[in-house]
Amino acid sequence: MPEKHLENEHLMREKALQPPAGFLERHPSKPYLSSLDEYKKMYEESIRDPGSFFGGMAEEHLSWFKPFTVPKVPNAPLLKDNNGEPSAWFVDGELNACYNCVDRWAIKNPEKPAIIYEADEPDQGKIITYGELLKQVCKASQVLLNLGVKKGDTVAVYLPMIPEAIVTLMAIIRIGAIHSVVFAGFSSGSLRDRINDANSKVVITTDESKRGGKIIETKKIVDDALLACPQVTNVLVYKRTGNSHIPWTEGRDLWWHEAVNKYPSYYPATPVSAEDTLFLLYTSGSTGKPKGIQHSTAGYLLGALLTTKYVFDVHPEDILFTAGDVGWITGHSYVVYGPLLNGATTVVFEGTPAYPNYSRYWEIVDKYKVSQFYVAPTALRLLKRAGESYIEPYSLQSLRVLGSVGEPIAKDVWEWYNAHIGRGNAHICDTYWQTESGSHLITPLAGVTPTKPGSASLPFFGIDPAIIDPVSGKELEGNEVEGVLAIRSSWPSMARTIWRDYSRFLDTYLRPYHGYYFSGDGAARDKDGFYWILGRVDDVVNVSGHRLSTAEIEAALIEHSMVAESAVVGFPDELTGSAVAAFVSLKSRSIEDPSAIKKELVLTVRKEIGPFAAPKLILLVNDLPKTRSGKIMRRILRKILSGEEDQLGDTSTLSNPQVVSHLIEVVKAK
Ligand code: WTA
Repeated sequence: MPEKHLENEHLMREKALQPPAGFLERHPSKPYLSSLDEYKKMYEESIRDPGSFFGGMAEEHLSWFKPFTVPKVPNAPLLKDNNGEPSAWFVDGELNACYNCVDRWAIKNPEKPAIIYEADEPDQGKIITYGELLKQVCKASQVLLNLGVKKGDTVAVYLPMIPEAIVTLMAIIRIGAIHSVVFAGFSSGSLRDRINDANSKVVITTDESKRGGKIIETKKIVDDALLACPQVTNVLVYKRTGNSHIPWTEGRDLWWHEAVNKYPSYYPATPVSAEDTLFLLYTSGSTGKPKGIQHSTAGYLLGALLTTKYVFDVHPEDILFTAGDVGWITGHSYVVYGPLLNGATTVVFEGTPAYPNYSRYWEIVDKYKVSQFYVAPTALRLLKRAGESYIEPYSLQSLRVLGSVGEPIAKDVWEWYNAHIGRGNAHICDTYWQTESGSHLITPLAGVTPTKPGSASLPFFGIDPAIIDPVSGKELEGNEVEGVLAIRSSWPSMARTIWRDYSRFLDTYLRPYHGYYFSGDGAARDKDGFYWILGRVDDVVNVSGHRLSTAEIEAALIEHSMVAESAVVGFPDELTGSAVAAFVSLKSRSIEDPSAIKKELVLTVRKEIGPFAAPKLILLVNDLPKTRSGKIMRRILRKILSGEEDQLGDTSTLSNPQVVSHLIEVVKAK
């Protein structure tokens, strides 16, 4: 037996904390699961026979127009057995996603609040009931039909966090079309690429948007994108500010408020097959081209529904506040789908945690008696730094569950969250998952799973994780092991493919380790079987919980006429988790004003991708470290940047070893 090498051995010694007693005292009734043993029993069942476990769950929790009949619900739960076929669940069933999110609650209790809209300005929000939501959705559906949108077509959505974003998604899926949301912080170039890749013919947006007191010219960005999207026939524009003159193309552009008023307030939901595509969401990978992650209807719905129910222990009277944007998967699954599928109330927050001041989240929690609050650690770091005086005036007594998502949560931030926001009475759920997984993979269940600060703890139902040795490619059995995280079998909300590129899907996720889904993350399993996520092992950087590909930023930099070559790496940042550093070599060595060039390079990235991808550090260098085959060795850049130049390892494989001392000099002088 070779001796185990554990870089993160200190994690293995952490003790588990029991769920807080206050969680039960604050509970309106009782949690769905009574104990960790009950979770274990259900978990084992879900792995032993996923077909009957999820078959039963899908029958109980979703409304079907035509029930599925196949006894073995997934085609081949073990990925090694499925011969490279896409996973498929509940295949011959028919349902409608919007019906499941809206109609069934509108029929039961039309007066129940579905959405609490908290506008950027604290006094301008509104509440939308399930009955009202159904009416608005039906009207918008008919607008889309009238614009020629058919079942299976994609519709591009470029919207801020307003209730109409939910109305829009529901309207699209009500008629069996596919939504493709593009985060409204992306630039026109990124938006254009995504509209074209998905071949969307209709785009839905606002005149402008408002965030943190600032105006963003949303429609103008869309118009810039559309200069190179010849297939787009119409743009539907919701009037958010009504402020100024916005660019307008007669015949192509329609005002939302005028269009919806032409239609009656009911239109029936179109049945679709369980495996029909529900949505695309583009995400970054190791290469420059964004991937259109494709989710199917029934499996995704079930994943979002069950994780919301069991992880956050959401009961119908609960009010969930997921402080994430609908442009990312967290917004899809836990602002929109998860809460609505459970018939709960979801908070749609348009603003930022810092506007008008750092109390904003806590003010919202108290104002609406939020029971589950869910956010990325990057926001918590900001609020922790702002200080407790912004929290103390608030009671925060309604909070039962505090979720964390998107990046590892450091122990000190976890403890601060627990002490100052939960006040020791809320269960902290550090949820590990991805755009591709659709819903939580590894996470505590509120009220049930003991927690260790910094560990995502135990797998959700149906998730069969494995730790693989990246060198040998072999699975590491037992506990106290560290390697890359993979998953042995398919789960209902697993992405089915990359839009129009199944072979890229196989190459990225299923071929790296045969028989497993490869997550792209490093992870350790400790003595209690708890999982610790150790960060990406590929060229993806996580900046403020936004997933960025280094290759995509490099591709943006090269758009600047003076750039010869660039290499982008992530480096630790106190506030944003990771930040972007770009090593750039210019075509000309004689630069008069390096700081002006650096500014231009930052602007180029902002323009090509979006402000959130802007490099924090730009280093102008003569050359980059390369292997003899011309591959840039980013590992060397990372080490030099973190001051570990004595740990560069073997540099003899470089074609230009003399570059190393130059790079060290540049980094020292920064
Ligand atoms: C990272 C966000 C540590 C991870 C839901 C993953 C996390 C990537 C956690 C997916 C967590 C997400 N602890 N790391 N709790 N949650 N990640 O697709 O690297 O935007 O692969 O989905 O975020 O990012 P994505």
